[in-house]
Amino acid sequence: MRRLVMGAGAIAAVAAIGFAALAAWPIGLRPSSDLADLKGNPGRGAYLARASGCIACHTNPEGGAPLAGGVELGTPFGTLYSPNLTTDPEHGIGGWSVDEFAVAVRQGISPDGEPYYPAFTYPFYADFTDQEIADLWAAFQTVPPANTASRAPEMSFPFNQRAGLKLWRALYQFDPKTEPVEGKSDAWNRGKWLVEGATHCAACHTTRNLLGGRKIDTAKFAGSDMLPGDGKAPPIDTATLVARDWDAGNLAYALKTGITPSGDAFGNAMGEVVLFGTQYLSPEDLDAMAEYLMDQPK
Ligand code: HEC
Ligand code: HEC
Repeated sequence: MRRLVMGAGAIAAVAAIGFAALAAWPIGLRPSSDLADLKGNPGRGAYLARASGCIACHTNPEGGAPLAGGVELGTPFGTLYSPNLTTDPEHGIGGWSVDEFAVAVRQGISPDGEPYYPAFTYPFYADFTDQEIADLWAAFQTVPPANTASRAPEMSFPFNQRAGLKLWRALYQFDPKTEPVEGKSDAWNRGKWLVEGATHCAACHTTRNLLGGRKIDTAKFAGSDMLPGDGKAPPIDTATLVARDWDAGNLAYALKTGITPSGDAFGNAMGEVVLFGTQYLSPEDLDAMAEYLMDQPK
């Protein structure tokens, strides 16, 4: 705890000198493509939204309308609430263009040019193709409007200064390592794309530093004890999985059913990952993820 406080102190020092400068610092936006002309497939988009956790994280399990937001996300720096993503023009994203949606999802920047907090797992979506964005957009267009106002974040100073996120992004933003590897099977490469990107397993299973940055170079899938609500996620590197009796078959089965090789059910956050996400994936995709997880690159 003391170290956390010191970390915050150091940030506060940077904050005092840096925020005015940072607030004016532009973020490079990717040149817009021909997204508006691409025809999206809502079925494929809904599948991707399921796999990527959009539905899980933006639907309040305590009786909210689908994708109307309001899920509370605790962080060491304050509390965030997922916003309303329905087609409501006032409270949701009904007034957005597909280009604004693309920049929000792939780059984590709002239509006003403000960075989003990385509790929104956009760093994992950076490699979504234009077609995948068009598919997601087509699926979101089918969501009925919900008249629920989004709740503002309740972050402590200096983390309540969105401009400071530009500094955080410069230090800890990373590209998901989803690119295919030659010589590996199509299934392995599909598994890599899902595990490293869309399904964002590393969001919980990678060790973080005191500022919440993921140590992707040194501790990817090495486990984390910084989950919301003091939760812990175990390591899921290949060697640890093998040592704990996992193989491709029982891993694919567990991602489908939530049942582990010892006959227990996944608890806590992992139970929700299965309940709201991986149980909906096709057998081919689950096998692909398991193949990749049991044979991760060194
Ligand atoms: C782990 C939880 C989580 C997941 C998974 C997630 N989001 Fe979010 N999302 C958030 C939070 C929290 C915010 C608000 C961030 C902020 O205020 O800085 C957000 C913000 C957004 C926004 C901006 C809305 C606005 O009103 O400005 C969009 C668009 C969005 N998410 C789309 C998606 C899509 C599409 C997916 C799936 C591909 C997704 N989200 C997955 C938590 C999540
Ligand atoms: C929201 C956080 C979160 C995400 C995202 C997440 N996990 Fe987990 N995972 C956990 C937690 C917490 C546990 C411990 C479960 C328990 O206590 O029963 C866990 C446990 C596991 C285990 C059991 C490991 C062991 O030692 O027995 C495996 C395997 C696993 N996760 C794989 C995955 C895969 C694959 C993904 C991506 C599809 C993923 N997890 C995404 C939080 C997460």
